[in-house]
This record gives sequence, structure tokens and C-alpha cells, in this order.
Amino acid sequence: MRIGVLTAGGDCPGLNAVIRSVVHRAVTHHGDEVIGFEDGYAGLLDGRYRPLDLNAVSGILARGGTILGSSRLERDRFRAACENIRQLAKEIGFDVLIPIGGEGTLTAARMLADAGLPVVGVPKTIDNDISSTDRTFGFDTAVGVATEAMDRLKTTAESHQRVMVVEVMGRHAGWIALESGMAAGAHGICLPERPFDPDDLVALVEERFSRGKKFAVICVAEGAHPIEGSMDYQKGEIDRFGHERFQGIGTALAFELQRRLGKEAKPVILGHVQRGGTPTAYDRVLATRFGWHAVEAAHRGESGKMTALRGTDVVMVPLADAVTELKTVPKDRMDEAESVF
Ligand code: F6P
Repeated sequence: MRIGVLTAGGDCPGLNAVIRSVVHRAVTHHGDEVIGFEDGYAGLLDGRYRPLDLNAVSGILARGGTILGSSRLERDRFRAACENIRQLAKEIGFDVLIPIGGEGTLTAARMLADAGLPVVGVPKTIDNDISSTDRTFGFDTAVGVATEAMDRLKTTAESHQRVMVVEVMGRHAGWIALESGMAAGAHGICLPERPFDPDDLVALVEERFSRGKKFAVICVAEGAHPIEGSMDYQKGEIDRFGHERFQGIGTALAFELQRRLGKEAKPVILGHVQRGGTPTAYDRVLATRFGWHAVEAAHRGESGKMTALRGTDVVMVPLADAVTELKTVPKDRMDEAESVF
């Protein structure tokens, strides 16, 4: 069998671990050939690829980013190519495609499968917001980076008697904010799933200072937003999920808290630092397992499915189920965090 693999969308720690695992399982166990398309679906459409043998994936398990490169989908070009995708696969010479990516990549994978190309998807995102899988690799790494950042910021905040507002990634789902905020003991956590009231945050910080505590750390997801009319905040455009894109919430909230509290409040935007660098052991293992199961599914002739973690098992689930809605933080998880939302 000849397997094509690609990585598309935003990068994520663990992508290289999947590529390595696919090559190891396919080449060593099945005697397959593997080719890697460069820069996501762009490489597939342009016919830009390179052979991936054991040496090509040597030493990449712990490396961040993706050795194949990645790109965002050119939708119109992709739709047009779907019509002749079987012909393209024949010309390039591969039997099954393993695209590794987030919601956009998997939606495109589903379109390819519907167009008759054998496809086995592998989900990735640091945001952990893909339905049908309990976890995505990259999330554990991102939570670790954000947690360490808040641990470090606490000592600075305490030394300078400041409020630190730490903005973490998560446009539509607040998983990173929830778990890093809990792990770091943030005093307030703001998620996209539930609009927050700045009055609550002010009260919380004042209560801490009245007890003699001299600092506070508020963890805010980039997609979190205040209750309508509760503070001066610019609304963003509506995205394709029908969600409003709010801009720069960390900075806006720090400014608001400083004004209301009369205390120094500083924003810290963690941004892409959460996506870069080496994956944690957990993410390396999950990524490796996903790669192994994707190859096995390809050999069983399963198409239109993706790998998923259910409890401790890796299973195959229909792509259609995974891409119809995002997995957001449920109310009980928010309540457990016992913070201000
Ligand atoms: O991978 C998802 C994500 O990390 C979001 O949380 C974030 O908003 C987005 O990617 C940003 O990606 P980029 O800046 O690369 O478009």
C-alpha cells in the first residue's frame, strides 16, 4: 500500500510524533511506502511530496511543529480539486490519505472521503475542542506551558502587588483556560462558554486584598467576553461557527480592572508560545497511538473515519460526527473550577 500523509491548519506539538508513528507502523509492519505532502493540502493539490522512510522520520518524536510544513486551506481550489481527486491520487500514486489536523482539516478530509478517496483522519488541536474524542494531542503541552507561565507570573505579581490578566488560546472553547487556570490556582477564570461579569472579578480581587493578599492572577481565554454592556469592549466579526470574535480581551480586561480597582493590572498574552516546542510525554504517546491506529484502519479499508480517544482506548469514529459541532466546556466542568465565569 502507498500511504499519503499531510499536516494542515495551525501547528501543534505532537504532529511529528504522528508522522513518525505512521511511517514506523506502515513501513516496518506492513511493508508499505509512505509519502508526505508538503504544506498541508496545498502540497496534495500541487503534487508536492517526498518519500518518508525510517531515516526521514528519525529524531523527530520530540520535535515541535511539523517536518512537512502546514498551511490553511484554499477553499475554492480545494472544492474544485475534490471533483477529480481520484484521478489526482492515481497520477500521484497513493492509495489512502492520512490528513492530520483540526476541524477545518477534518472537514476537508470528509469531503475527500465523500468524493471517493480513501481517507483516515487524525485529529489535532491544542484547543481540545474536537467532538468525538476525549482528548487531542497538543492540549496537554499547551496546558503545561500556560500553567508554568502563571506559576511564574504569580511570583512577579506578588512581588509588585499586581493583578495579572493572562490571556490563553481558545477562540471557541475554554479548555486551556479551564485546565491551566485550575492547575495554576488562578483566582478567576473566564471562558468563551459563559460571559463573565467584571464586577465579580473586581469583588474577588478586593476580597483577596482585604485578607492581606497582595496579588491576583486572572486566566482568560482569548474567546471569553464580558456580559453585554458590563464594560467597554469592542465586539468582533461573526465567524463561520456563528460566534462573535472578540479582540484583545486580556488587554481590555486588565485595563478595566486597573481603572476600577485603582491597582496596577497587567495583561500577558501567551499566544503562539502555547503551540510551539516539544510535546509532553502524554502528547507524544497519544500522537504515536493515533498514528498506529490510523495505519491499521487504512489496512482494514476504513475510510471517512478518524482516530479518537475514548477513555483509555483509541477507537475509530466517523468524521461526520467529529466535525459537525465543537466540543465546548460543559457546565459541570465550569462549576468544578469554582471560579468566576
Ligand atoms: O489551534 C487553534 C488555535 O490555537 C486557536 O486557539 C487560536 O486562536 C488559533 O489557533 C490561532 O492560530 P493562527 O494565529 O495560526 O491563525
